Amino acid sequence: MQNSVAKTGITGLDDLLGGGIPRGRCILVVGGPGTGKTILGAQFIYNGVKKYGEKGLIVTLEEGGEVFKADMARLGLNLDELENSEMIKIIDQSVVNYLPSERFKELVKFMGMPVFKAASLLEALKRGIESINASRVVIDSISALTFQVADPVERRLYTMLIFKTLLDSGCTSLVISEAKTSQLEREFIFEEYLSDGVIVLQNIYQEGSLIKSVYVEKLRGASHDTQPRPYRIDQGGITVFPKERVFYKL
Ligand SMILES: Nc1ncnc2c1ncn2[C@@H]1O[C@H](COP(=O)(O)OP(=O)(O)OP(=O)(O)O)[C@@H](O)[C@H]1O
Ligand SMILES: [Mg+2]
Repeated sequence: MQNSVAKTGITGLDDLLGGGIPRGRCILVVGGPGTGKTILGAQFIYNGVKKYGEKGLIVTLEEGGEVFKADMARLGLNLDELENSEMIKIIDQSVVNYLPSERFKELVKFMGMPVFKAASLLEALKRGIESINASRVVIDSISALTFQVADPVERRLYTMLIFKTLLDSGCTSLVISEAKTSQLEREFIFEEYLSDGVIVLQNIYQEGSLIKSVYVEKLRGASHDTQPRPYRIDQGGITVFPKERVFYKL
């Protein structure tokens, strides 16, 4: 029988998650700039293939696919190789479609970026999953929809459709989102309520130094660590220290 969790394979992170991500669920990864959201997503897909033989789909909404692959190659994640052997698929949707004004649209065209309908992302997502029979999906990042779907009500509805598409697919998914603040007392975003789980990545200043901290805010249907834990990013990607504490004095 298949394991009931999809392990991220990221050292220490699976301990925080109580073993891994419950299969078929949709988890939000929230964090500030440079906290390692993209690396976490890429490792989830890369390890999925390399360690567990599971195919993965990556949808990039911000960086182009080539930039994404080049960045991850510097961390030793050779996504080209996995793409060539059809173990992963990368869908580059780093385009702007529903734009606020005609003037803006002209500017985007001038910059050489294609303009197309929001519905095409949902289509591409479904087709991409089916084309390689993916079990894992990463969307990086849903915050880019701010530019792609200008109307906030429409964007919320659209986000719900993305989550529904992911859940219906049966894939285990990570949806990446930008955090509005780096503070512990932060503003919740509505995607956190839609998701089955939330992993928060933060840069915290403590006694003059910057500490990278990760915690599992929620994980429906699982018993997980609730405490913030330090993590590191280096040549090998992300390493979480599940037994160490971030705050010694509270
Ligand atoms: N080889 C490395 N050694 C140490 N740290 C690294 C290395 N490569 C990347 N990093 C760290 O990872 C960060 C970038 O990670 P990543 O692109 O995943 O962040 P992100 O949260 O997706 O950022 P953004 O919000 O800008 O998309 C860098 O800011 C840097 O701190
Ligand atoms: Mg990123």
